[in-house]
Amino acid sequence: MVSDLERVKAEALSAVREARTPSELQALRVRYLGRRGELTALLRGVGKLDPALRPEAGRLANEARQAVEAALEEREGALSEAGAGCGAETLDVTLPGRPVLLGRRHPVTRVRQEVEDIFLRMGFEVAEGPEVELDYYNFELLNMPPDHPARDMQDSFYVTPHILLRTHTSPVQLRYMRAHAPRLPVRIIVPGKVYRRDDDPTHAPMFTQVEGLVVDRGITLAHLKGVLEEFARAMFGAETRIRLRPSYFPFTEPSAEVDVSCTLCGGRGCRTCHNGWLEILGSGMVHPEVLRNGGYDPGKVTGFAFGMGVERVAMLKYGIDDLRHFFINDVRFLRQF
Ligand code: FA5
Ligand code: MG
Repeated sequence: MVSDLERVKAEALSAVREARTPSELQALRVRYLGRRGELTALLRGVGKLDPALRPEAGRLANEARQAVEAALEEREGALSEAGAGCGAETLDVTLPGRPVLLGRRHPVTRVRQEVEDIFLRMGFEVAEGPEVELDYYNFELLNMPPDHPARDMQDSFYVTPHILLRTHTSPVQLRYMRAHAPRLPVRIIVPGKVYRRDDDPTHAPMFTQVEGLVVDRGITLAHLKGVLEEFARAMFGAETRIRLRPSYFPFTEPSAEVDVSCTLCGGRGCRTCHNGWLEILGSGMVHPEVLRNGGYDPGKVTGFAFGMGVERVAMLKYGIDDLRHFFINDVRFLRQF
């Protein structure tokens, strides 16, 4: 029995060492350790031995099985490493490569960056503020105390009674002025997402604004108009017309909404613009109280501000008739940009 064990073990080990392929190894595993394998048979035989001989024979048989098991595993490891190397060498480098599917920038991102570039060229710098905002900044410091009717036009999503998703980028006017007063000039744009309870072809519940704020000595409405005309021509082409419509915002005085001639219908009037013009922004001269809230003396400085809807600009620029296309994320739409 013991000599049989030694012989089978030695045979098995040398066969394993010489195996050249994983399938040879598998055959050896069956031959020695399988249900009808040679070592398995010897292990079974231990039970039939004289009781006095069993412990020693059992120990030897187990040792033999473990040794063969270990040798099989080691050889398997070695062969599969060699196999990997072999696979790499047979790689056909003449095959054409697989195309890498590149994404592209979202049209709203592209237009936002274009807006930024135009204002950076005019000497503005980019500032930012939080999307989750205090009521205090979003409304109160902008002359909209609780119960002010102008709040109704910007119904929002509240987190707590005093914290909301900002309805416009105007709170950053105050955040920036308070952080920088009394430094002059203030000349910033503020791109970012804003949120409102809106939903129709020209109003989404989440959209993008770019706020503009200029504060310095001697700033007038003429500066506002000049900057916006320059912007519209750079964005939409030299022939673009804009119009300022008298309007009302609690935080500017006087106030104006600015429309651009509709590029979808050439200004004739269509489903999107209704009357040939599409409103892209609200604007005005910064209210003296807002300057004061920001830490500036309205007796010494004046300013203008505007808040532009970036999706509206993108609609005009690309002739898109429904703002909600931007957020449905249909690749057939997005691939066109
Ligand atoms: C404002 O949000 C003011 N904060 C703008 C402002 C800033 C005025 C500074 C004066 C001084 P208004 O609610 O009109 O104003 O929105 C500004 C622009 O955002 C609109 O002209 C429009 O282009 C865009 N807009 C408004 N609501 C939506 C909406 N739901 N979806 C997409 N764009 C919108
Ligand atoms: Mg408006």
